[in-house]
Amino acid sequence: MSAKPKFAHVVFQTSQPTEMRDWYCTVLDGHVLYQDAALTFITFDDEHHRVALLNPPVPLERKTPATGAMHHVAYTFENLDDLLDRYVLLRDQGIRPAVCIAHGVTTSMYYRDPDGNMVEMQIDRFAEPDDATNYMKGPEYAADSVGPQFDPEQLLAAYRAGASVEELSDRSWALKSALPDPMPALMGAR
Ligand SMILES: [Fe+2]
Repeated sequence: MSAKPKFAHVVFQTSQPTEMRDWYCTVLDGHVLYQDAALTFITFDDEHHRVALLNPPVPLERKTPATGAMHHVAYTFENLDDLLDRYVLLRDQGIRPAVCIAHGVTTSMYYRDPDGNMVEMQIDRFAEPDDATNYMKGPEYAADSVGPQFDPEQLLAAYRAGASVEELSDRSWALKSALPDPMPALMGAR
């Protein structure tokens, strides 16, 4: 049996390292560990860097919704309180999700970074990985593997009004709002 590597970090090639640095430090509640003209290393835990920025000395093309490239990096919170705390913290600084989706297996908020890359902030619905796997092999997922969009303010209000995490994690809660198909926003359309 071969050794299993652990995920270590993600690096973005960017021509706006200052904007990207500030955005990632805010969104991930991180800090800069090292920075020079070519590289910026950001961390938010005990790893020396989790997100890095490579600023090569050549002009770069802008990413568009039609660019075939990595789509998003996802970060998981322990529970809905923590996810909503981060949502409120960012909202109050003017950083709002581009789209929120009740995937059914996760409740996810997607933010667009200054270069157009998505960052997913999520909570898992199921405590046990096997339950998540079974859900993803089930009929609801087969019928729609993306899931419906939800309004984060509605989620916040419903949770504060006493709705349970279980109720709010079920797609049926999000479906009641009948919001548009999340795919265009997920692709980065503004
Ligand atoms: Fe994801």
